[in-house]
Amino acid sequence: MRALQFRAYGGPEVLEWAEAPDPHAGPGQVRIAVRAASVNPIDWKMVTGALSGGQPMVGTGYLGYDAAGVVDEVGAGVTGVSVGDDVLGKGQNTQAEYAVLDSWAVKPSSVDWAVAAAAGVAGETGERGLRLLDVKAGDTLFVDGGAGGVGAVAVQMAIARGAGVIASSSEANHAYLREIGATPVLYGEGIVGRVRSAAGGQVDAVFDVAGRTPVGDLMSLAPEPSQVVSIANFAAGQAGARVTGGDADSHPMQALAQVAELLAQSKLVIKVQTFPFDRAAEAYRISQAGHLRGKLVLIP
Ligand SMILES: NC(=O)c1ccc[n+]([C@@H]2O[C@H](COP(=O)([O-])OP(=O)(O)OC[C@H]3O[C@@H](n4cnc5c(N)ncnc54)[C@H](OP(=O)(O)O)[C@@H]3O)[C@@H](O)[C@H]2O)c1
Repeated sequence: MRALQFRAYGGPEVLEWAEAPDPHAGPGQVRIAVRAASVNPIDWKMVTGALSGGQPMVGTGYLGYDAAGVVDEVGAGVTGVSVGDDVLGKGQNTQAEYAVLDSWAVKPSSVDWAVAAAAGVAGETGERGLRLLDVKAGDTLFVDGGAGGVGAVAVQMAIARGAGVIASSSEANHAYLREIGATPVLYGEGIVGRVRSAAGGQVDAVFDVAGRTPVGDLMSLAPEPSQVVSIANFAAGQAGARVTGGDADSHPMQALAQVAELLAQSKLVIKVQTFPFDRAAEAYRISQAGHLRGKLVLIP
């Protein structure tokens, strides 16, 4: 099979769409023939070596943490899914013709493959953030970075729960934030005042998906520091906010089931831009520039 890969750290130019060993489903996993796989910021962080801890590159690196496709192998102990089922989910090295998923949900037939692929990481992360913040009907949530992959999904999942959402983005994405049901505010200097005036005071919870606003500013918007959850500013924990990387606090199967249901009901709509796998470098460049509207998706 072919897989996206790199042999040296660098920019998107080091990416190759080339032959790779076939993966196989281990216990508790399924293998899919990939129809689409999304690009997440962690992918280009892997390629640049930012996550290597300063260690030199060894061997070949493979990429991708979510995908949608058709199940063609079912690992030991797996129930409720069969060869031939269409699924979306999370795994590793998913930017390939075949990939192993650790968690999945049945893909609603009405949902496009690219949209389904985009829902894995963003959906699980969105569900996790809202669950940790206990966002419920009637709450007001502030999402800092609401137009990107995780942000736009979190905004819509919160609205589906009956919460009101204020979200930040650049000016260019304000119409998009309105389209998905949020009240837009501009990020950067003065953001606290803008959120307060949109909310008429404090908010009930802050979901920081961008990691750019000083955590003290975010905490001043919430009733208590723990009502600020960040997925992108790991230093925020020292100030009393909560940070999550998605280990023990992740419930991926339940999260993906919820996401699939919201997609089927069109309560969650993910805007995607697609690229063939052999043009993955273009998608990586856009992701790395950091001003996404929705998700970037690769198609074999
Ligand atoms: N911890 C975890 O479990 C976990 C899981 C998934 C992702 N992440 C991390 O979370 C971050 C976001 O991921 P993503 O997939 O949503 O990224 P993304 O799709 O690239 O979106 C980034 C968003 O950040 C916004 N942004 C840029 N500068 C900002 C600022 N100063 N203030 C507020 N927002 C700003 C952009 O808005 P504009 O386009 O309007 O500028 C863009 O929509 C990444 O660092 C990723 O690695 C962590």
